[in-house]
Amino acid sequence: MPYLNSFCYFLFFFLFFNSCSQSSEHQNNSEPTLVEPAPSSSNYYQEQHRPQFHFSPEANWMNDPNGMVFYEGEYHLFYQYYPDSTVWGPMHWGHAVTKDLVHWEHLPIALYPDSLGYIFSGSAVIDWNNTSGLGVNGQAPMIAIFTHHHMAGEKAKTNTFQYQSIAYSNDKGRSWTKYKGNPVVANPGIKDFRDPKVFWHKDSQKWVMLFAAYDKVRIYNSPNLIDWTYTSSFGIPDDDRLWECPDLFPLTYTDTQEGEKETVWVLITSIQQKGPNGGTATSYFLGDFDGEKFIGDHNKQYWLDYGRDNYALVSWSDAPNAEHSRLAIGWMSNWQYAQIVPTQKWRSAMTIPRRLNLHSTPEGFLVASQPAHELKELRTSKYTITPQTLKDPIDLSRSFSMSKGLYELTLEFESSETGNLVIEMTNQSGDIYRTGFEAKTNSFFSDRTKAGNTSFSKPFAESIHTAPRLIDEESIKLHLFIDHASAELFADDGTVVMTDIFFPTSPFTNIRLTTNESVKIKSGTLYELESIWQNH
Ligand code: FRU
Repeated sequence: MPYLNSFCYFLFFFLFFNSCSQSSEHQNNSEPTLVEPAPSSSNYYQEQHRPQFHFSPEANWMNDPNGMVFYEGEYHLFYQYYPDSTVWGPMHWGHAVTKDLVHWEHLPIALYPDSLGYIFSGSAVIDWNNTSGLGVNGQAPMIAIFTHHHMAGEKAKTNTFQYQSIAYSNDKGRSWTKYKGNPVVANPGIKDFRDPKVFWHKDSQKWVMLFAAYDKVRIYNSPNLIDWTYTSSFGIPDDDRLWECPDLFPLTYTDTQEGEKETVWVLITSIQQKGPNGGTATSYFLGDFDGEKFIGDHNKQYWLDYGRDNYALVSWSDAPNAEHSRLAIGWMSNWQYAQIVPTQKWRSAMTIPRRLNLHSTPEGFLVASQPAHELKELRTSKYTITPQTLKDPIDLSRSFSMSKGLYELTLEFESSETGNLVIEMTNQSGDIYRTGFEAKTNSFFSDRTKAGNTSFSKPFAESIHTAPRLIDEESIKLHLFIDHASAELFADDGTVVMTDIFFPTSPFTNIRLTTNESVKIKSGTLYELESIWQNH
């Protein structure tokens, strides 16, 4: 894609055009083909670096999560998918569902490229009142809204090669028909014009669509998901970074003491450059929304994740109990190196599902992320860390078997001006991953510089990633998830998150807590987790 501009982006470009020519057989194919049933062998999902409790495709390339919608007990996850290679190519929508947010069922590819183009990112809704007229037998249709990306148009250097289209399903997302009148939003001449997110706005009784248009989001509305009217745009003046994959939803905060409620609209947008620790990253703004316009302070852009590997995060439509917490998932990679990470059969995984909620601070609200509580189901054994003043390192793996290299750690300790708290993970090959809190800089960090194979990309591990502490409380709480190829740190109730991938020679099976000086640990628990794929 022409908007990518470093050396790696050049490589991306190269691979992109290569792969485009490889797979023309899919371009006009609108018939779904069945994915081979998963082999039920003990080797299933056992390749080196294969995530054990994250979603990853069985084979080949995946990027953004798309079309997430909850319907009749199933959380749908569609995703940017190229079934013919482990690098990006003509985009399809892959498909999976989960009933418990923990275990996933792979389904056949949902949307194939067609004469209007590749199927880029987008969203899905249930058209409960059949406003589109696309439902049958009194049933609400599932509607997917996505960007068509027309390669020939891009190559010919037109500025109109991306436009928004829809498709519908009347069998719970199992088969899809593209709408005959596509596109439903034509391109007025804006080169980057993609990633529609649609929702029903109750107050104005209209559908709202927002999508990224270069360095802004554009907002439209519609009575029927087919006829769309432009209403407004939001962006940072004079900012020339490319935005992608926006989302917009209300979150309510209830003051438990006063019983008062406040609702804030959260505008999420992924940014293609200059993430807090480099490369691509997901950000948010807070404000209000009247059905046509997002009113928010464009000078206050917050980062939803300070790690390098949470991009294109968007939320589920129609998920239960969304008033206070919004269920979302991100693509656990970064365009700087996504296509060259050292996995063989597939590329990329999603983050664990997270719930976003408002966290009140004296300076205003922050959006905090909580790991989906459903993941507790994966805990197989637990070790309680006794309250103590840590001076000498404690080797937790001496007291607790961690042979699977899959675990979750919660820790609460007193903040001080000098005492660091470092969680250090190692394996037998001498790889080391470190994360924790540095007192002097009042910041969290994630250090993958020696966590295994880093040779595939210079920017991948050239520095330690840091994140400022955003709240000022005496205790610091950390909640950490370690899989074979990733760490997800939720600090200070999720107001600071760091998601980073890594590629150790073998899983990390030892864990130590260390400090530069001393730190008072108030509580802690270490859990071993089981794989979601092992009993497949
Ligand atoms: C974000 C993105 C989207 C686009 C998709 C293409 O990662 O570039 O803007 O729709 O990926 O695969």
